[in-house]
Amino acid sequence: MSGPDSDACLRDIDEERARLIDISGTDELDTSTARVYLASLPRDRFASRAYLARRDRPYIQPRGGFPGLDRQRALTMALCEAGADFIPLTIDSHTRHNDYSTASELLAAGHAQGHDLLNGYPIVSHGVARTRSLFEGIEKPVSLRHGTPDARLLAELALASGITEIEGGGLSYALPYSKAFPLDRALMHWQYVDRLCAVAGPPDAPIHRESFGPLTATLVPPVITIAVQLCELLLAAQQGVQSFAVSFGQTGSFEQDVATAQVLREQSARLLTRFGFTDVHVRLVFHQWMGAFPVEPSLAWQLIAVSAAVSLLVGADKVVIKTPEEAIGIPSIESNAAAVRAVRYVLDMFPGASAVTNEVIEEERELIDSEVTQLMDHVLTQPSGSLVAAVHRCVLSGAIDVPFAPHEQNAGGLISDRGPDRRIRILSPGAVPLSAADVSRERDLLGARADDRGALWERLLRDVRILA
Ligand code: 5AD
Repeated sequence: MSGPDSDACLRDIDEERARLIDISGTDELDTSTARVYLASLPRDRFASRAYLARRDRPYIQPRGGFPGLDRQRALTMALCEAGADFIPLTIDSHTRHNDYSTASELLAAGHAQGHDLLNGYPIVSHGVARTRSLFEGIEKPVSLRHGTPDARLLAELALASGITEIEGGGLSYALPYSKAFPLDRALMHWQYVDRLCAVAGPPDAPIHRESFGPLTATLVPPVITIAVQLCELLLAAQQGVQSFAVSFGQTGSFEQDVATAQVLREQSARLLTRFGFTDVHVRLVFHQWMGAFPVEPSLAWQLIAVSAAVSLLVGADKVVIKTPEEAIGIPSIESNAAAVRAVRYVLDMFPGASAVTNEVIEEERELIDSEVTQLMDHVLTQPSGSLVAAVHRCVLSGAIDVPFAPHEQNAGGLISDRGPDRRIRILSPGAVPLSAADVSRERDLLGARADDRGALWERLLRDVRILA
């Protein structure tokens, strides 16, 4: 058996933390800085507490990161004023890849030249005191948005700066975001981050972890998305995380979105109960369309509005939103704030909306549920000594296989396609362990496309821009 196990908990990581902090060269923190600062913060700054409150619509989460402190503060204030429920801190790519010196050089050069040379906020370059100042007087939770295989130092600094939600995971922030970062190391570094989150928050306001379900956002079939979410949920629970969000990205099919949400919720609850993690709260996060966006603003606005409506119908606890400038680049403060207002406008139209179902959704739910059950049974019965080792092994074998992932350890054997009804289908499972009946069902639902392999490449290329 290779299920989660409390013996795998990194009970005492303080020595490792002290070593990491020491090597980083920062003199702003030690192993108690985050815990002491977080304990002093008002409880409305905690994501886990926000999720406990009753509400009749999903919370709104924008993204956003500028290199300079002043602009980041202006963005923070504008997003608050526009009605965002969660405030973002999006990290630049150099910092995400642990290249802190390049991030610092480009921060300084951009400042000297008067324009931004980084695509986000370099938290390591700015440090704790400056980052804390960004959120002074803010009465909302701040979420760290990045894409980092080794996020140990980032998480240390973020928590010490009063950030109470950390996005990512050993699979979801390695396979889509890196070509060569060794997966076993990414998984172990995320066990450190999970454990750090478990020990840093006050007992009445735990630090919240969120996984990243969209992955490559390119024809990822629900079974893969959900299995990755469940693995990261169990890995976090094993380290003592008590508040966790599973997530997924809009698929392009309304029915598939609803079915995916249902299976995610049900399987999360089932597995936590099975392994005795009865004190873990699970939330559901929906990402607005993560594929290519229309350039034309009027079309981008329609996509944002429709996907806000879908977030209601899947019963999401939070929706991560896009802006009308998605096709162009990093959004301006104004367009980011306008997107928050627009999504809020849509969500407020249908207070208390609840999830829907119908025959197609039910058919889809059953198929996804069957596939997820098989894949998770496979993960949880690996002849490995631990869940981390089992998950690692399942990626190397291709049992967990993310379409179009750039990572060299990802098998890339699963071939997906989109059915005539726009649901994402598995054309060929590669080494993903699915029953013959489910594989045949997938092909049936693809219709004539299943036998039209000659046009597959053209279809895949067209699919990249299906909503653009
Ligand atoms: N500010 C705002 N949005 C950002 N994104 C990436 N970096 C930033 C940033 N610095 C958004 C992209 C895309 C998503 C993955 O993250 O526009 O929508």
